[in-house]
Amino acid sequence: MAVSPHPLIAAFDRHGQGQVFAFFARLAPDAQARLLEQAAEIDLDEIARLNRTLLAADRDATASLEGLAPAPFEPLPENGGDRAAWATARTAGEGALRAGRVAAFTVAGGQGTRLGYDGPKGTFPVTPVRRKPLFQVFAEKILATGRQFGRTPRWFVMTNHANHTATEAFFTEHRFFDLDPARVNFIRQGRMPAVGLDGKILLEAPDAIALSPDGHGGSLRVLDRSGALDLMAREGADTISYFQVDNPLVRCLDPEFIGWHLRRGSEMSSKMVTKTGPEEKVGHFCTLGGKTVVIEYSEPQMKREKIFEREADGTLRYRAGSIAIHLLDREFVRRMARGGDHALPFHRADKKVPTLDAAGRPVKPEKENGVKFEMFVFDALPFAKNPVVIETRRADDFSPVKNADGADSPATCRADQLRQSARWLHAAGVGIETDATGLPPFALEVSPLFGTDEETFAASWQKLPSKPVVHDGLYLE
Ligand code: UD1
Repeated sequence: MAVSPHPLIAAFDRHGQGQVFAFFARLAPDAQARLLEQAAEIDLDEIARLNRTLLAADRDATASLEGLAPAPFEPLPENGGDRAAWATARTAGEGALRAGRVAAFTVAGGQGTRLGYDGPKGTFPVTPVRRKPLFQVFAEKILATGRQFGRTPRWFVMTNHANHTATEAFFTEHRFFDLDPARVNFIRQGRMPAVGLDGKILLEAPDAIALSPDGHGGSLRVLDRSGALDLMAREGADTISYFQVDNPLVRCLDPEFIGWHLRRGSEMSSKMVTKTGPEEKVGHFCTLGGKTVVIEYSEPQMKREKIFEREADGTLRYRAGSIAIHLLDREFVRRMARGGDHALPFHRADKKVPTLDAAGRPVKPEKENGVKFEMFVFDALPFAKNPVVIETRRADDFSPVKNADGADSPATCRADQLRQSARWLHAAGVGIETDATGLPPFALEVSPLFGTDEETFAASWQKLPSKPVVHDGLYLE
């Protein structure tokens, strides 16, 4: 009598994805169980839909940018913004922090391949003197917020399958950098299988599907699925402060930003900086069809022409760069996560995906042989009610570590941290030598526990019973 196949295998067969189990019969029982478990993660209808829409489409065809225009934003007071509105926003944001309405959220599920650093990116030592890891910098900013406003925000850290355990272990090893471990939650993002150019799901080993993180847009699903949103609701938090793991300058919990978001009744708000030049690799805040959208630097039409357009006064037309800092309303995230008409779209990325040939031998492709599907969090913007984009000071909010060298590297980030410390010292009335770019000739470091901005820094400095001599290696905490 024929043994009927496992229902999951039968489902893969029905979807034309039977190749996933090509080597199943010769696997040991534990390897079979592993493969079945991975297969169970896959939504076959979703893959079929993506194959129909993204894969079948002409690879060079892109969505029309007809009617694209720069998105409006709230300029900083020094750039013509409404000073009173900024002050009101700040008061509102401070009130929200005092009331415990805001949770911090770091997306740390990327693969960090460009940096060439082995280990979760958040463990990368980034500060100039103490070499504190990125995670510690954020932890101290969250602690500082707690001390300033009397409520320490809960912190959600999104990991991926590959770095989840190492991330948790790192926090345990460092005693959560003095945060209450019960108020730090690690949530693991979902995965998507890579498919071949023919839409067939690829194996990376006889007992393993080629799975990779589903993009930072996957954060919306996992905030819901993990119970994070319910936890927030129970604790009276309704606002999520979203930032990327690569940016130690980020103001993780910025009262002015929070105030703009809440006062406008916005479901998703974002920060922009003026791009350093047309080719800076950031997303662009635009409006399209009456909606606020982010168009990536890599989008062909953007890259080819739009980024070079100028206004009559010579300024870049698409100058509002996205630094991937957002505020999200809790119930908006729930709505997006549950999909339906509000689902985030997937993007296609053609990659070299190591896989197996028909005989089960490993293949290391020399050119793109597969496609990965990813969601981007900023694609939620057009679904949000009353989205707000505010301007922020780049020097106090953005200097990411992305590449091993050149732009956005550990060296540029270190210099930006040094410039910030020097600026804060200057503002507190301490004369120190710098070059024309504001860079001091020696290493300085200010712990977020000493100051998170010019004002809190100056207040701590004034309180010091004896002022330290500013010298190479000065660390203030
Ligand atoms: C990103 C933005 C870009 C923005 C720039 C600012 C995209 C596609 N583009 O570019 O608009 O101007 O940052 O610095 O995002 N991550 C996950 N899970 C994933 C993938 C990524 O958590 O599956 C996290 C990473 O850990 C990182 C962040 O998302 O913190 C950004 O990802 P990355 O791929 O480095 O984006 P960029 O191309 O640098």
